[in-house]
Amino acid sequence: MMQTNLEALRALIEPDRVHRAIYVEPAIFDLEMERIFGRAWVLVGHESQTPNPGDYFTTIIGKQPVVMVRHTDGSIRVLYNRCGHRGAKVVGDRAGNARFFRCCYHGWTFRTDGQVLSVPLRRGYNDTNFNPQDPQFWMTPAAQVDSYRGFVFASLAPEGPDLRSFLGGVASSLDDFVDRSPQGRIEVAGRPFRVLQRNNWKLFFENLNDAMHALVVHESSVEAARSEAAREAARPESNGQGSYAAELIPTLDKNGIPYAAWEKLETTAFEWGHSFLGGFFNPESYERSYVEAMEKAHGTERMREILSVNRHNTIIYPSCSTQSAYQQLRVIRPLAVDRTMVEIYNFRLAGAPPDTYRRTMIFTNLTNSPSSIVMPDDLEAYHRVQEGLGSNGSDWISLHRDYGRDSAHAGSVTANATSELPMRNQTRVWLKYMTGEAPA
Ligand code: FES
Ligand SMILES: [Fe+2]
Repeated sequence: MMQTNLEALRALIEPDRVHRAIYVEPAIFDLEMERIFGRAWVLVGHESQTPNPGDYFTTIIGKQPVVMVRHTDGSIRVLYNRCGHRGAKVVGDRAGNARFFRCCYHGWTFRTDGQVLSVPLRRGYNDTNFNPQDPQFWMTPAAQVDSYRGFVFASLAPEGPDLRSFLGGVASSLDDFVDRSPQGRIEVAGRPFRVLQRNNWKLFFENLNDAMHALVVHESSVEAARSEAAREAARPESNGQGSYAAELIPTLDKNGIPYAAWEKLETTAFEWGHSFLGGFFNPESYERSYVEAMEKAHGTERMREILSVNRHNTIIYPSCSTQSAYQQLRVIRPLAVDRTMVEIYNFRLAGAPPDTYRRTMIFTNLTNSPSSIVMPDDLEAYHRVQEGLGSNGSDWISLHRDYGRDSAHAGSVTANATSELPMRNQTRVWLKYMTGEAPA
């Protein structure tokens, strides 16, 4: 059994390498759910999932089932999905609308703020200590709930930084996400995809801003895109444009840019484990109708300012990642030490033309959906790491790449995108959460 006292935890993390136990030990996973997911601001969902009173969406925060619901006063509440009577999970659906929640077991009902509404055969409680006003009988609200630009976060801990301080400089990626709408508003398009990964949750985060993997891991999809491009060009009637294949190729081909190009990109890391990678989105590929809609809404200067922001993945540790140029959000829900569920959202930009959403769909179909041809490459790599870390070949994982070459700024640290800075930043914060110290 793994020791999880403070001294033992500190021995697992060094500035430039980490012990494999943090990826394979069930006792560590249990502690992470308590000390990281029980303390951090975790993304629950987006306000547009619950536009009307009674709209709800269920998910988990760490091991805790929760329900996000729009209350009658218009506010969004996050409640533990647990009955105040004998503990049954109250809401069984993933999403829906309800005037109140009724427990499937003995029929207690709860308001959408969690308070007890009614209990059957109430007189059975006369002259007992049961009191519907007492929160012990409610569906308990999360300790803190707040939203930023429509993204709803909850913290199960009453203490800690407020959401805005927690986000720090990475809030600019959520701004970028929403500012891209001509109306300054985004909407979830349908329900999220869910993918079950056979790996520890941290491996997914450590891959998102890893610029060194794409050329190797995604070789097959880059090769497929290039051979398809060659075939397309050879068609006698082809003008290189117009076919669906021709639309897909530039998106796939980006993973094949040479190391020298990756090295020119920059990674920016923040205090609480967050980071983003400079993007390689080609501004020329915005649809003319979208640029015109943005210009009409915001004026030329502001439109240029918004569309000049170029970020690939943003990590909001420990729960989610955005790709704002493609309106993508991925939310990480750890299930076990070697099982991770990822919720994959697509958004529509309010006021944008249909072609913009078409670009979002092309991107998600190619890279993020369960049936894409890019993500399975990554899943195979994660699973192989998980398998390798179970071996006794070595206890240590190297995070040495570009160690000691970071540039410090006020509130952030930067390095070239091939640096393992984002992974070191995450393991540093991991230790702070796990030992109960504030990040420094
Ligand atoms: S457990 Fe919910 S009503 Fe009894
Ligand atoms: Fe990848």
